Amino acid sequence: MYAKMTRTPLEWLRYAVLPLALGVAVGAHAQDGGEVEVLNWWTSGGEAKALGALKDGLAEENIGWRNMPVAGGAGTNAMAVLRSRITSGNPPTAAQVLGYDARDWAERDALANLDEVAQSEGWDDVFPAAIQAFAKYDGHWISAPFEVHSTNWVWANKAIMDELGIEQPESWDAFIASLETAQEAGYTGLAYGGQSWQDTTVFENVVLATGGADFYRSSLIDLDPEALDSDTMIETFDNFRELLAFKDDNSPGRDWNLATAMVINGDALYQIMGDWAKGEFINAGLQADEDFMCFRTPGTQDAVTFNSDLMIMFDTGNAQQQQMQHTMARIIGSPDFQIAFSQIKGSVPARTDLDAGPLDACAQRGYAQVQSAAEHDTLMGSLAHGYAAPASVKNAVFDIVASFVNSDMPSDVAAEQLAMAIRGATS
Ligand code: BGC
Repeated sequence: MYAKMTRTPLEWLRYAVLPLALGVAVGAHAQDGGEVEVLNWWTSGGEAKALGALKDGLAEENIGWRNMPVAGGAGTNAMAVLRSRITSGNPPTAAQVLGYDARDWAERDALANLDEVAQSEGWDDVFPAAIQAFAKYDGHWISAPFEVHSTNWVWANKAIMDELGIEQPESWDAFIASLETAQEAGYTGLAYGGQSWQDTTVFENVVLATGGADFYRSSLIDLDPEALDSDTMIETFDNFRELLAFKDDNSPGRDWNLATAMVINGDALYQIMGDWAKGEFINAGLQADEDFMCFRTPGTQDAVTFNSDLMIMFDTGNAQQQQMQHTMARIIGSPDFQIAFSQIKGSVPARTDLDAGPLDACAQRGYAQVQSAAEHDTLMGSLAHGYAAPASVKNAVFDIVASFVNSDMPSDVAAEQLAMAIRGATS
């Protein structure tokens, strides 16, 4: 017998041309127990390392790993690839998705049922209601939650704060004053990535800081037209404009992790970003509260805007695949994995029954804040990260907010357009 030395054109496309074109390595590492193909957008240093924890967990169960990474924060590109894989009848074993997208695939009956794992692992008792609302559909578990991320965080360069005598700002005005101090000293105040999902990530922080939790909920979750086209929304855009003055000229198109690097490298004072940014600090060997600071965006201290990465599995009708999917779900939901993953990723565990001791200082505070916000009804889904409204609304907001950032659109026009775009997306 001769070993097969040549590849068919289709195989070339799959193993050589496509991965190269996508800039990714699609390595098949088959093990005796078979292999899983996992679509995700975890491509930054910290993200890829965190994903490695799952790969390692599977390897211990003798399950191989085929990575299908699609670069692009917040999963915008990944969701387009996932859609085309599913429509062409070739779904991966599993995929990372966010809230409303999971619901969407469940509605289309594309997902595997994970009730068996959830029951044997007691998931109903350990994952909070806010997560179950998306991780379950119609009473059935359709995904395994990795963690809880939250978007209302500021990441700060401690050396710059110390050098300039900047105290952690507790109010919006103090926040702006500290940015001015940094800017006057020649630093970039705000490390900013000009991509529409990042614009809206920062924008939702300003909505919360300007109008408080009730306003965030009525405008971005309930989509109340009166809240959308209100004086408070105009004031929100004014505050947003004020903040945008502290970004640098090279921000358009910048990836979020490159903005994080500006804070890490001492070029910029702050970045407003979800706590996946902390994964980059950790990956650079830096320690929370010692080498860098983390605090809730001033004006949002009593609330948490969250998102949670969910692993959905596809109904492949293949018993071995199903077995591997169940093993993967069990690993993701297990206490050890929830801690180990968050230690690298920057998040906090989604399970509420864990000892936060092994987590870093930011995550210990974050874990308590998520629970306290849940108790006070101020734990609210992030719009930019798929937990406040369906994708059609999210994309409409992305467009308006990005045009505001990239033009001199007046605040009242922006508020009016936002209300109109959301009306269009929901009618
Ligand atoms: C995801 C994170 C990810 C971030 C940046 C968010 O939507 O929940 O896991 O690190 O996007 O890519």
